[in-house]
Amino acid sequence: MHALIDLGTGLRAQFPVLEQRVHGQPLAYLDNAATTHMPVAVLDALRAFETQDRANIHRGVHTLSQRATDAFERARSDLKRFVGAGADHELVFTSGTTEALNLVAHGLWADGPASAWLRAGDEIIVSGLEHHANLIPWQQAARRSGATLHILRPDAQGRLHTADLERLLTPRTRVLALTAGANATGERPPYETLLALAARAGALTVLDAAQAVGHAMPGIATLDCDFMAFSGHKMYGPMGTGALVGRRTALERLAPLRLGGDMVEWVSYEGAGFAGLPARLEGGTPNVAGAVGLAAAAAFIERTGRATLDAHVHALRAHAATGLAAIDGVTVLAPQAHQSALVSFVAEGVHPHDIGTLLDGQGIAVRTGHHCAQPLLDHLGLGPTTRASFAGYNTHEEVERLLAGVARSLEILK
Ligand code: ALA
Repeated sequence: MHALIDLGTGLRAQFPVLEQRVHGQPLAYLDNAATTHMPVAVLDALRAFETQDRANIHRGVHTLSQRATDAFERARSDLKRFVGAGADHELVFTSGTTEALNLVAHGLWADGPASAWLRAGDEIIVSGLEHHANLIPWQQAARRSGATLHILRPDAQGRLHTADLERLLTPRTRVLALTAGANATGERPPYETLLALAARAGALTVLDAAQAVGHAMPGIATLDCDFMAFSGHKMYGPMGTGALVGRRTALERLAPLRLGGDMVEWVSYEGAGFAGLPARLEGGTPNVAGAVGLAAAAAFIERTGRATLDAHVHALRAHAATGLAAIDGVTVLAPQAHQSALVSFVAEGVHPHDIGTLLDGQGIAVRTGHHCAQPLLDHLGLGPTTRASFAGYNTHEEVERLLAGVARSLEILK
């Protein structure tokens, strides 16, 4: 039996949003793969910046501008350390994973055929596990550059295999883009090996770490990874924050797409000279408070302990997956994904939207649908799913409520 006093019970008090009741029931928030909540430490960091230091950065000689600049650059160096960046890496602040991946995909062709990394006849490989944010930009980049897009297809259980990648790699392969954790199924691909294979073949490698960065994962400097993207709102940080981290030599290949203030050395009516990294990829006023909050979220994860958080969410996932699989007519996707913080399932003859709505009526928040990964769910032949995803503040008692809630919903719906 699972002890009812667990990590989640202890952490909950740090998350004010969890104190509320929904439809008369205590909120069981199980939609953390979409967005996690923020602890008091992050809310305090945001409030301190906004009430004491708020000013625009890099362009002011006044005290607040200097304090804001220091806070922004401190957040950058804290986050570089958090993701295990080395001396030859840089971190570019973005609005999240989607913007980071778009910066890469479009930055690699936008300089035009003379100097761009992606040109007509080149090949791009994207894994078949991807969120739309790591697929659609590559579809467009291929279309606009004249490159060909290949999909590294998963097997019937949603797993990727190195032998399949070996078959797809050619001397024209310029990019491999894949996820460190599939948001729709929870599958954790062997990305270390896949990235290494592609790098050895001469491709640039892109890792979508949105579902992984808040968990234990290898430091970027230990991976054959040229670009890594992540979001703040899936790691206890503010919405609209995130970063693109990469090797400086790889980031320098990107044509800047956010053109404007703060990313130039000089400007005339006829042209402009771009600044060095990271400024050249950070045009315009950034979300400074968001960067400060994101660094505070990373500090919260480190204080709590990534291994401690992971052991807890993996246990919640195992509890939920075992319980759901035991319910008549329920199929759990990627049952092998033990290192995941989420469980996705389908119930025979019942639409996930109806399950999600009935669960909401019991105060249980889950996500239903294609999870922005429609090609993967089509490939698996399962259609939309119901997904419960866990964070450090969730409890085994909430998993029990989920299991009872699903069973009750299926009784009603069938
Ligand atoms: N990417 C988010 C999810 O998986 C929105 O739900």
